Amino acid sequence: MARTCLTVVLAAGDGTRMVSDKPKALHPVAGLPMVAHVAAAAIAAGGEACAVVVGKGGKEIGEHLADRGDKVDLFEQAERLGTGHAVLAARGAIERGYDDVLVLFADTPLLRPATLVRMREQLAAGADVAVLGFETDRPDGYGRLIVTDGALQAIREHRDASAAERAITLCNGGIMALSGAHALTLLDALSNDNAKGEYYLTDIVEIAQSRKLKVVAHKAEETEILGINTRAQLAQAEAIWQARRRGELMDAGVSMVAPETVFLAHDTQIGRDTVIEPHVVFGPSVHIGSRATVKAFSHVEGAWIGDDCAIGPFARLRPGAILASGSKAGNFVEIKNATIGAGAKVNHLAYIGDAEIGEAVNVGAGTITCNYDGFAKHRTSVGAAAFIGSNSSLVAPVEIGRGAYVASGSVITEDVPAGTLAIGRGRQVNKDGRVAKMRERASKTKS
Ligand code: UD1
Ligand code: CA
Repeated sequence: MARTCLTVVLAAGDGTRMVSDKPKALHPVAGLPMVAHVAAAAIAAGGEACAVVVGKGGKEIGEHLADRGDKVDLFEQAERLGTGHAVLAARGAIERGYDDVLVLFADTPLLRPATLVRMREQLAAGADVAVLGFETDRPDGYGRLIVTDGALQAIREHRDASAAERAITLCNGGIMALSGAHALTLLDALSNDNAKGEYYLTDIVEIAQSRKLKVVAHKAEETEILGINTRAQLAQAEAIWQARRRGELMDAGVSMVAPETVFLAHDTQIGRDTVIEPHVVFGPSVHIGSRATVKAFSHVEGAWIGDDCAIGPFARLRPGAILASGSKAGNFVEIKNATIGAGAKVNHLAYIGDAEIGEAVNVGAGTITCNYDGFAKHRTSVGAAAFIGSNSSLVAPVEIGRGAYVASGSVITEDVPAGTLAIGRGRQVNKDGRVAKMRERASKTKS
């Protein structure tokens, strides 16, 4: 779209009903704060500029968005005098002049970019104000859309509505698109003459009508504009988000045996023909390639997993785990900040941290990289095709050469050159006939 667009995200609510020390907008859905979901939807809908209006705790919101690399301007609404007043806190941004101004609420994390695009299309087609409405059988608390002869005349807030108006089931989702040419003059005309004594953004509709501007309503699914006020609603949004994303991944060729038991993060990427078994939890920043299998009860975060890998069951992949294609991390294996080479196997009960494991290495059951000495972390490196016998401790910093062989039960404290066998354990002693003597002695002392 050639039109320029500013998004104003209202996030000044203190979210009393969340009963939290954290601003409501920072509570996460799929591991991403609600305000970031909304900002991302706006950016995906072509909103090149984003202004976020914050109140108390606002700095935290700004810092969070900046950390993510979102380019947003922060505006403070010192006093909470209503949604119309909140939009005007971003006057500095609106004055820069845009074709479209989108007003979004930070507590509607399920909003889809496609819906915003359609609202912008209404502006492009000549509307001056476009309002997002939805049908619901529980309209209490929402503003009602008053439509006569197919035209949106006004939005009546629940508190100010008559009994007849309260019977209307078409409600205001809170999202509005304003033509940039009229946005400021409409906002400046708002008053606070209503039940709450607030500047209602919604009064813009009547003002626009009185000025013979074109006002339209656009409908969305109720779930899409679900407003989060409580932790129960947050959990409801999470469930809707998860179901939606699982569906998208399955449509893209990912198999899930029991999708309702798989928990995704906002940025989980999974390639086609990969199978996710039941009860798998993904934290943020996970990439999985094609034809991989993540077996049941695995927990994966911050990990990059290549094609044809097999993970789990009961594997824990932590941030910085990189598994090259065809490698395996089996049951009760934990991997952190470590690269596992192509075709390498860490099949059972191991901890691999701060390490490079080469191609085709076999790491035996119970192997541990002792990466932390109580003061600092150290690295372990294992060359290609090396064999690490079961129950070995690799005391970092340590380097094991290509094709080397570590005998099982070894405690490796010194580097092992390529192709070398290292045995770092007490030598076994067999005492011939000793057991019979022990038994004899025991039977005498029993009495
Ligand atoms: C609003 C709408 C209502 C709509 C509903 C949809 C108005 C007047 N009413 O009501 O028609 O059906 O949303 O959920 O717009 N905020 C500020 N500063 C303020 C006031 C609000 O930043 O001074 C922010 C809040 O943080 C929130 C958003 O604006 O993100 C909406 O405010 P809220 O008080 O929840 O409005 P509702 O009463 O739900
Ligand atoms: Ca609300």
